[in-house]
Amino acid sequence: MVVHEQGEQVDHGRRMVNWLLGSSLGVLFVSIFYPIVKYLIPPKLAEPTTVSVTLPWKLAELKANSGRIFRFKSLPGILVKTSGGDLRAFSAVCTHLQCTVQYREDRQDIWCACHNGVYDLNGKNISGPPPRPLEALKLNVRGDQIIVMKG
Ligand code: FES
Repeated sequence: MVVHEQGEQVDHGRRMVNWLLGSSLGVLFVSIFYPIVKYLIPPKLAEPTTVSVTLPWKLAELKANSGRIFRFKSLPGILVKTSGGDLRAFSAVCTHLQCTVQYREDRQDIWCACHNGVYDLNGKNISGPPPRPLEALKLNVRGDQIIVMKG
């Protein structure tokens, strides 16, 4: 009876040692490989939902019937002041093959020189190969400052 109890104690002790060894190896394994896996998998960066850029020009500087290219995030944007004095802003990336568009004062449209794509002053593709309108950006004028936003 006593031997049986000792045997149980020995079995219990062995299980405890095995568990400790097993869990120690598990912890060791995780502590070695977790940082490696974490390093190899790039972190997910949250895309900002709203982006705004204050343009470097004052409202009064812009003449009617003109267009200017600006930097919006990492891409070009285009600001157009129509002959009627309205301001409009779009992504300046052509929807065909991503060339940068420009404003044509003589024709009062937005033109892509790469393949002769033409957009109207609402950004709508009206001739040439562009398959879609230009992406419109929101404008906010505060005093003489012009702020362009997306989102
Ligand atoms: S890239 Fe603009 S028309 Fe082709």
